Formats: sequence, C-alpha cells, structure tokens
Amino acid sequence: KVVVFDFGAQYGQLIARRVRDLNVYSEIVPCDITADEVREMAPAAIILSGGPASVNAEDAPRVDPAIYELGVPILGFCYGHQVTSVTLGGSVYHPEVGEYGPATLHVTGGQLFAGTPADQTVWMSHFDAVKDVPAGFTVVASTDVCPVAAMECPERKIYTTQFHPEVKHTEFGNQMLKNFLFDICGLEPNWTMDNLVETLTADFREKVGSDRVILALSGGVDSSVVAALGARAVGKQMTCVFVNHGLLRKGEPEQVEEVFTKQFDVDFIHVHAEERYAKLLDGVTDPEQKRRIIGTQFWEEFFAVAQQLDGVKYLAQGTIYPDIIESGARKTGGKAATIKSHHNLIPFPEGVHFDLIEPLDHFFKDEVRALGTALGLPDHIVHRQPFPGPGLAIRIIGAVTAEKLEILKNADAIVREELDAYNQRLFEETGERNSEHSCWQYFAVLPDIKSVGVMGDERTYQRPIILRAVESSDAMTADWAKLPYELLAKISSRIVAEVPGANRVCYDITPKPPATIEWE
Ligand code: XMP
Repeated sequence: KVVVFDFGAQYGQLIARRVRDLNVYSEIVPCDITADEVREMAPAAIILSGGPASVNAEDAPRVDPAIYELGVPILGFCYGHQVTSVTLGGSVYHPEVGEYGPATLHVTGGQLFAGTPADQTVWMSHFDAVKDVPAGFTVVASTDVCPVAAMECPERKIYTTQFHPEVKHTEFGNQMLKNFLFDICGLEPNWTMDNLVETLTADFREKVGSDRVILALSGGVDSSVVAALGARAVGKQMTCVFVNHGLLRKGEPEQVEEVFTKQFDVDFIHVHAEERYAKLLDGVTDPEQKRRIIGTQFWEEFFAVAQQLDGVKYLAQGTIYPDIIESGARKTGGKAATIKSHHNLIPFPEGVHFDLIEPLDHFFKDEVRALGTALGLPDHIVHRQPFPGPGLAIRIIGAVTAEKLEILKNADAIVREELDAYNQRLFEETGERNSEHSCWQYFAVLPDIKSVGVMGDERTYQRPIILRAVESSDAMTADWAKLPYELLAKISSRIVAEVPGANRVCYDITPKPPATIEWE
C-alpha cells in the first residue's frame, strides 16, 4: 500500500484518490506519524501532500526525519517538497512573488518525467519556494518564477515537486504518478474491490476475535455496508439493531428486515419504537425540537437493547472519510483525536463503554457504494438517495400525526417510483449513474395547510403535496430538476387519484441557496 501524509485537512484526499484510481491501495495518515509507526504499516511508498502552512513558521507541521531513512520511496508535492528540503539540510525562502494557477514547466531530466515533454503545463499554488536543495539532490525542472520546481535523489528514491501533479490541470500529472508507482516503486496495479472485500473482512475478523459487536443499522448506505461486511467477517457475533421510529419511507423497514434476515447472516433486532416516537412527537411543531427528540430517543432505544446483550465489546459504525474531514478531527493529527471526536457524538450512558470499529473510515462515498455492491447488497440500498435521520418528521410541516404520515408515505412512494424509473432510463441512455440530468434527491413534502378541490361532483378540502426534486453532487448546492412536463403531469395525476386525502400537487422550483433541499 501507499501511505499519504496529510499536511492539512483535505490536501491528502485527492492524492489518495488518484492513487486508488490507478488501482493501488492508499491510505491517508496524519503527518505527525512516527517512522516506527510507518514501518509497521509496511508501505511500498510514501507520498507527502501539500498543506496551507509555511515550513519556516514556528508551529509548522514537520515530519519525523527518520522516515527518509526507511528505504521506502518518497514522493512529495508542494509543502511535501519544501518540508523535504528543510528536513534534509536544504532551505526554503519567501520570494517577492508567489505563483498561482497554470505555469509552464521546463523539464531538464528526472525519472518522474519519463515519457513527458520538455515543456508542459503544471498547476502551481505557493508563496514559499525551495532555495537550496539538500546534498545529493538534483534540480530536474523549473518555471520562470520557480527555479526548483522539481528535485530528486534517485539513489535514495526521493522525488519532490513544487507543483501539484494530483490536480487535473497538471497536464501529465497522472503520468508522473504512474512513473512513480509502477516504474520507481515497482508496484502492480492490482488493487480491486474484490481484494478490498477480502482485506476488510480479514481485518474485521482479526480485530473482533471471539468477541461480540453491535451496530446501529439505519438502512442507509454506510451502516448497511458495515452490516454486510460484519456478516461476512463474523456472522452472528454481530448484532444489528434497527430502531424503527415509524418515520421511514413506505416499505423501507420491511426491506431492511428482509435483507438482513434472509440475505445476510447477522443477529438482527427490529426495535418497534413507532408508538413511543408518536407520543414524544405529539403536538411538536418546531423542526429543531423534532430533530432533538428523534436523535435523543434513538440512543435511548439503542442502548436499552445494547445493555441487555451479554459480552458486547465493540460498536461498529459506518463513519466514512468525509465524516472525519467534516468533524475536523484530522486537522490536529493523530489517530486518537479521530476516535475521540466520534466517541463524543455517541452519548454513552453511565458505565457503558464499547470500543469503536470504523471499517469505512478511509473511503469516499462512491467507493463505499462499490464495496456494497461487491458484498452483494441490492441496488436499492447501495444507490439509495440521501435520507435525513429524522426521516419524514421533517417533511411534515407542523405537528406529525398518523393521518399526515399516511398521506405523505403514499405520495412519496409514487414520487420515488416515477423518479426511480426516470433515473433508470437516463442511466440506460447515458451509462452514467449520475448523469447531468439525473435526479439526486426527490421526495414529497406535506405542508400544514389544506386547499379546496373538486373531485367528481364533490367539493374536497384536503392536503396539497409538494414535490421536491433536485440535481446536486454533494448537497452543498442544488438546483431544481428540469423534469419533463409529461412526467410532472403523471406524478400529479397519480397522487391525486391514488392517495386518499391529497387533492393538489405543487412543484418546488427553488435552488439551494437560497432555499435548502429539505423544507425544515
Ligand atoms: P438541506 O435541507 O440542508 O439538506 O439542504 C442537505 C442534505 O442533508 C440532508 N438533511 C439531513 N440529514 N439529518 C440528516 O441526517 C438531518 O437533520 C438533515 N437535514 C437535512 C438532506 O436530506 C439533504 O440531502
């Protein structure tokens, strides 16, 4: 494997991603990892990422100098280039001008640039620059502004660049990575999902040994993948607790139960908490209060079950890499910090403690989906659209009642059926799961009003349904989906015909920002 030292939150992730895209497994580690810890991981190569700091600043992150003595090939970009220079006896200075954006690189040699032209475009983003190279190093490329744009010491297999080969704007960046991984390090591009399934299964089994594991299974992609992995690794030593708050979409609790009782061999506990939730939510209209009640009750329900099971040592969680980035845990470096931050999110009751297993914490969402498929999870789980933890409670404006829930579930089922089919058609036409016009999230919302209608000869006074369908890639921004009129018409007529209590359909045509995707 390749280890990527991260010198600032998020700088490492793109590099790790590029390496994995070349079918070589890579893992991100905090930059203050010691050489002994690295030796234990037995990597075939080390890559030092860029970072926002100035190497000459007092509190700048440094590397353990002993990593350069491990005999493991090292590649460094930007900050990784500068930190290599100062650690090995060179120097870094602060020139009068920085260099940002595309630049023309003049290559004068070097193994990293094999098969690439003498002049090529690279992506620069730096103020500081290397002045003196360490003893034994040769300068192999420069730009008009930056004399030491790349240096290397082939005897020690150390190669560093001021520019960023991992970004697409660096024309031959991928070639440089290939040169490093395959020619210099002698790696084979043989990392596949099947290998990953084997490795993660073996790791899970080894960690758990003969102990018991518990998992809070929501039916979402991440927790389902952990459940499937646990089933493969330790079978019935793992208990999956599915807390049913009654706010899931139509048919979903049954699907989750079916998959994890019939297809996967785990101990599955279905907690029917619908009535307790209904009582707690009775008359509650404030969205944040709904969220609090639902979140707090979830852990109450979970731990009530967990405490009755004997000998559970581990709590498995579907934490994925972006969760860690978001919580900022890796910024401080150190694995302990990561684990602690996630512990803090779980309100362990007095005297209760489980060790965490987070088998997906190195992976991105699309990798987790691919892993789910490789583990045999059905498409309706693996390609499930995002769904909020508080479920339908935050799509019913005002107080949640049994009657409103029933209307919303039925309307939402129609929306999903029609839009799933629409997405499937686009997938078949384009071959892409998330093509330009596919809907990313789509659902029905029930506002707290009624409107007049006429059905047959009768006047009705019933609920309108709001259709929300958006295109997005990460939920940070979103646009309303420009759905074909015929499709909108079909959804509308089906809802008013098939859902008792609904007599009107509106389409939300607001992007995010200024609106949010959800209504509460
Ligand atoms: P908004 O509505 O903020 O939503 O544009 C962005 C994404 O987050 C989801 N969402 C939630 N997910 N708990 C969750 O687990 C929540 O309380 C919550 N609120 C919004 C939403 O579905 C969308 O994908």
